[in-house]
Amino acid sequence: MSDFIHHYEAGGAERPPLLLLHGTGGDEHDLVPLGRTLAPGAALLSPRGKVLENGMPRFFRRFGEGRFDVEDIKLRAAELAAFVEEARERYGIAQPIALGFSNGANIAAAMLLLAPEALAGAVLLRVMTPLVPDVLPDLAGKPVLMLSGSADPIVPADDAARLAGLLREAGATVQHQVLPAGHGLTQADVNLSARWLAEAA
Ligand code: MLT
Repeated sequence: MSDFIHHYEAGGAERPPLLLLHGTGGDEHDLVPLGRTLAPGAALLSPRGKVLENGMPRFFRRFGEGRFDVEDIKLRAAELAAFVEEARERYGIAQPIALGFSNGANIAAAMLLLAPEALAGAVLLRVMTPLVPDVLPDLAGKPVLMLSGSADPIVPADDAARLAGLLREAGATVQHQVLPAGHGLTQADVNLSARWLAEAA
């Protein structure tokens, strides 16, 4: 199995599993309570990012805030997609919906753009455009929820809108909402994500 430290919780087959992807400095336990709240009864697959930045786990390398190492993103997205495939076999689970926050949302967006077969859809919380692929994937039928914060000091508003445009152009069904929030999550994120997951899944 790909060497990701991870947490797994079994769930019922009636709803798709969630692939939980934490933010910088988080780990495989961070989003488990949120996953349980948003999708009660769903299987949860939660890897820990393998890149360390001053000891803080993340899912890909960066040169500075918002300055991404695109070659590393490509490698890491492929590596994570391989992990998902192996985990699906090992645990006997369906294609997951990614639930990613911040850096975890960014690697989920990279997977949608580069390895779309890994995911059934995605909830992207405080996401940025991780890269622009040479060729757009076919994302027809994949539902994506993007929730941004109007006062987010990390994510420029037009950057998230650019990602929404790319995903739509690739055929995904994208719901993008900008909430009166910063980079941190709010109750509105929880409510909107839970509702969206109940409908999408
Ligand atoms: C990233 O590096 O992926 C974004 O800047 C979000 C974060 O601060 O982790």
